[in-house]
Amino acid sequence: MRAKDFILKAHKNSIEKGSFTWSSPSNIALVKYWGKKENQIPANPSISFTLNNCKTTTTLSFSKKENSNEFSFEIFLDDEKKDDFKPKIETFFKRIEAYLPFLKDYHFKIETSNTFPHSSGIASSASGMSAMALCLMSIEKALKPEITDEYFTQKASFLARLGSGSACRSLEGDMVVWGKHNEIEASSDLFGVKYPFKVHRNFKNYNDTILLVDKGEKQVSSTIGHNLMHNHPFAIERFKQAQNNLSILIDTFKTGDLKTFIEIVESEALTLHAMMMTSMPYFILMKPNTLEIINKIWMFRKATNSNICFTLDAGANVHVLYPENETETVLEFIKNELVAYCQNGHYICDQIGFGAKLINQTV
Ligand code: PMV
Repeated sequence: MRAKDFILKAHKNSIEKGSFTWSSPSNIALVKYWGKKENQIPANPSISFTLNNCKTTTTLSFSKKENSNEFSFEIFLDDEKKDDFKPKIETFFKRIEAYLPFLKDYHFKIETSNTFPHSSGIASSASGMSAMALCLMSIEKALKPEITDEYFTQKASFLARLGSGSACRSLEGDMVVWGKHNEIEASSDLFGVKYPFKVHRNFKNYNDTILLVDKGEKQVSSTIGHNLMHNHPFAIERFKQAQNNLSILIDTFKTGDLKTFIEIVESEALTLHAMMMTSMPYFILMKPNTLEIINKIWMFRKATNSNICFTLDAGANVHVLYPENETETVLEFIKNELVAYCQNGHYICDQIGFGAKLINQTV
């Protein structure tokens, strides 16, 4: 597939109005995407667990309008009008207009809500942009019913990527790869693909408990962060390392070797933060409590032989990952020893999930 294969050309149907509702989850990267080329092309491949409980539900209502000169839309978060979200959507529409030429023909009402609080430090861009891309693809399918399910999902992921890179990994479950990797034939820089190989039962229903250490706005936006990888002194080695780490994980998913999994996942998280500490300008995105939690996790692992590990996003919150058969003991440990480091004792229990769902449609 090339980008131009995703341009919607002739279609028979014409539709006056309707609405689609999709729910789409967040995802947590194991091998991190950090650094991109033009048009949201990743500098290295990444792989993620799709989450189950952290998700966005979006209803996109559309009605034909008189002129087709400009974009027309309004956006609501939890029934409250959110004009400050408009520039982000406007930019997204501009980026995808070439692929969805009908965008200026309709007025859109976007109603969205998240299962997690907006100010939780959990990025809603992956779940939000993927839900939005799916709603738009549902309109394309209504205009051109003959498109295949495979094309639908690939193009929805392609569009989501243009909204926010990691959003392209949120549509399917339970693991998604985005970015070309030579051992995964179907992988692409343009969209995410379901992890195609067999996965050992050790990874089934894997848990992710998200410890909310800092619920504030992101200190560094991901756009700025990705750009800091241009001319970064360690960029070339980092991109090679991500390729290699994905190769190692492919093997690990086959054998079920949790020790290696832990090593790669924690190293990826710390490398992401190391990249930010060594860029110019430089940033420290961890908080003292992030380090307290990491140390406690390491001590608990050593003392109990648990397979608990952590990963981080570009912020201070900690994702605690652990296998299904350790759910009880690790949750107990989290409650007794880690919750004290969370802002207002707030944490979210999640686990691997299976991707986006169409909730409702009227056309
Ligand atoms: O999708 P973006 O542009 O917000 O970038 C996300 C980057 C990380 O969350 C730090 C890593 C990843 O692969 O999700």
